[in-house]
Amino acid sequence: MINRDDFYELLKSRKSIRKYKKDIPPREVIERILSAGMEAPSGKNRQNWRFFIVQGEKRDEYLKLSQKSWLGIKDILQKKLKPSLYDFTERFFYTLGDAPVIIFAYSHNSSEERYHTSIGSVYMAVENMNLACLVEGLGCCTMGAPLEIKNEVNEFLGVTELEEYKKGELELLCAIVMGYPDHQPPKAPRQTEGRLHWLGDK
Ligand SMILES: Cc1cc2nc3c(=O)[nH]c(=O)nc-3n(C[C@H](O)[C@H](O)[C@H](O)COP(=O)(O)O)c2cc1C
Repeated sequence: MINRDDFYELLKSRKSIRKYKKDIPPREVIERILSAGMEAPSGKNRQNWRFFIVQGEKRDEYLKLSQKSWLGIKDILQKKLKPSLYDFTERFFYTLGDAPVIIFAYSHNSSEERYHTSIGSVYMAVENMNLACLVEGLGCCTMGAPLEIKNEVNEFLGVTELEEYKKGELELLCAIVMGYPDHQPPKAPRQTEGRLHWLGDK
């Protein structure tokens, strides 16, 4: 049985990492992280996650795509985002913090399942993977930014060729960039105010 204090300590120590060493984690480590993801619960046990693991030359190619697409969307984002977030997003599109591995997470949506259940199931797997990174000595950051260029990402990964995609059932949710951490950011503070609503007896 896992020690209770260790478990809570693990949760508390997880932080998004945005700067990585260039060393590539061994394949078996990435496989364990993916297995951890696939231990997650899912609506009707559909296990509707789909992961695309990008490394090496393909990862370098993605950075070029990401940089190119930034030029296409930066003007729109400049109007939408406050300056600090704009600068941050720009940096992300250019470097991904040098992360050597990028895992793109998709949901296979089905008319037999509620939309939010499908999406939530994939995010449960994503959180498992966040925690698995930690125990493997890796860091990661879950990123919604690739959604800004989701059509390009779908093409780049070959997702557009898949039957599930052609039927309109595959949806990009996020990327998880990962690698060995090259910084130790402070823990982002947590708040409980307004988040908890207890009902019934004390
Ligand atoms: C669905 C989702 C999307 C996110 N997208 C981004 C992103 O595009 N860029 C980024 O730097 N961080 C992104 N994050 C990370 C959050 O900014 C981060 O989790 C939050 O600030 C709390 O910090 P912590 O993870 O260090 O505890 C995302 C996190 C989640 C769960």
